[in-house]
Amino acid sequence: MTGLWPALRPQVEIDPSIGDLEGLWDRFEVFEALHHSQRICNPMDEREFAELVALLDPAGRERWLDIACGSGELLIRAVEQGANGAVGLDLSPWMLNSAATEAERRLDRAQWPRWVLTEAAAWPVGPTSDCVTCLGADWIWHGMRGTIANLAARVASGGVVAYGGPRLNFGADPDHVSRAFGQLETVADVETELAANGLRVTARIDPGEAGWLSYLERGRRDAEAWARRYPGARAERWLGEHQDWVDHFERDREVVGWSVWVAESTIA
Ligand SMILES: C[S@@+](CC[C@H](N)C(=O)[O-])C[C@H]1O[C@@H](n2cnc3c(N)ncnc32)[C@H](O)[C@@H]1O
Repeated sequence: MTGLWPALRPQVEIDPSIGDLEGLWDRFEVFEALHHSQRICNPMDEREFAELVALLDPAGRERWLDIACGSGELLIRAVEQGANGAVGLDLSPWMLNSAATEAERRLDRAQWPRWVLTEAAAWPVGPTSDCVTCLGADWIWHGMRGTIANLAARVASGGVVAYGGPRLNFGADPDHVSRAFGQLETVADVETELAANGLRVTARIDPGEAGWLSYLERGRRDAEAWARRYPGARAERWLGEHQDWVDHFERDREVVGWSVWVAESTIA
């Protein structure tokens, strides 16, 4: 696809920090090409995702902030299960269009989450949300430590967070990995960091390799469908990006795992 971008859905808010909307359509086309049919853009399967939603206990939550919300499935399910005041932040206009369209289809207008196009790192910090989630976007704050600090800074006393990110795979030798690949945090490292930020772990979900394989396969199907719909050099590049992703997975599959941690704020 080139140049002629879709229109942003009217219910998507554009944060004043956003200068170049055209540039964002362009920048995130690759992610859209590889994810456009997917409601869950991470290695969790449907059972694990449903378990996560239940662990976050949506009924009665009044202010749920999902950072890098993707196509909005987590917030839409949360609202379907009783949450109010949901806010989804993402920097991809494609993803927010998908989130807004799906919310329109499944929820009453009064229940629609706010969908905000923004650089998440620019979003105001303050302990105002009773649930703060960020799945699969730890690069925004340059890794696990920055991400956990930012979730902790946004959750209200007694609230809950969910952090989903990479970790050293079970069974991998940390010394060998740090020599061959560089630093990769262990489950213990993540849990130490959560505790240091006043967050007490209550649950962890560990998608297995089957989850990654299914996620990669969905990406391949999406990239191929995109290339059929918008044939040309860009679509070929996105197919190449997908192949790079598969190659990285093959190279790293012994050492890189991914988990979601659920933790409660213990700060009074
Ligand atoms: C792997 S997806 C995860 C989406 C969703 N959390 C999920 O698990 O289905 C990563 C998301 O991060 C968004 N993203 C990337 N950089 C961002 C940034 N700087 N600020 C906000 N969102 C960002 C992408 O647009 C994408 O929707």
